[in-house]
Amino acid sequence: KKILIINGPNINMLGSREPGIYGNATLADIEKAISSLAKELKVEVEFFQSNHEGEIVDKIQSVKDKVFAIVINPAAFTHTSVAIRDAISAIAAPAIEVHISNVYSREEFRHKSYIAGVCIGQIAGFGVDGYLFALKKLASL
Ligand code: DQA
Repeated sequence: KKILIINGPNINMLGSREPGIYGNATLADIEKAISSLAKELKVEVEFFQSNHEGEIVDKIQSVKDKVFAIVINPAAFTHTSVAIRDAISAIAAPAIEVHISNVYSREEFRHKSYIAGVCIGQIAGFGVDGYLFALKKLASL
């Protein structure tokens, strides 16, 4: 059972990026926390981060039957990308959308997600724990 964890643009900057909003954890810290929960849950995880929309589309298209489910923080592409939405729609694997921050308490342009409607659910505002909640849910399916 392999679960793919996708992080979008600027998530590689976590730790130094707006710590008041996103906290001090780096992407490596997040991946470490996910890996240790995955071990407990006895699921395999693969990590992918890209700042490029098309690379994320390519990655989603490539999952086929290798990946059972997807956790995705599309970052800024959440609010802009029909292409990522369509890629998730095109595959069978279920996805959960995660945001570190509570996007609904922020600027209005962050209130709209093109992605959430093709996911089984969305988690926002719980920091790094959001990834862990999503992993736990997907592992239980
Ligand atoms: C984010 C929220 C997005 O609005 C923003 O563009 C990000 C990060 C989050 O995890 O809180 O880059 O997805």
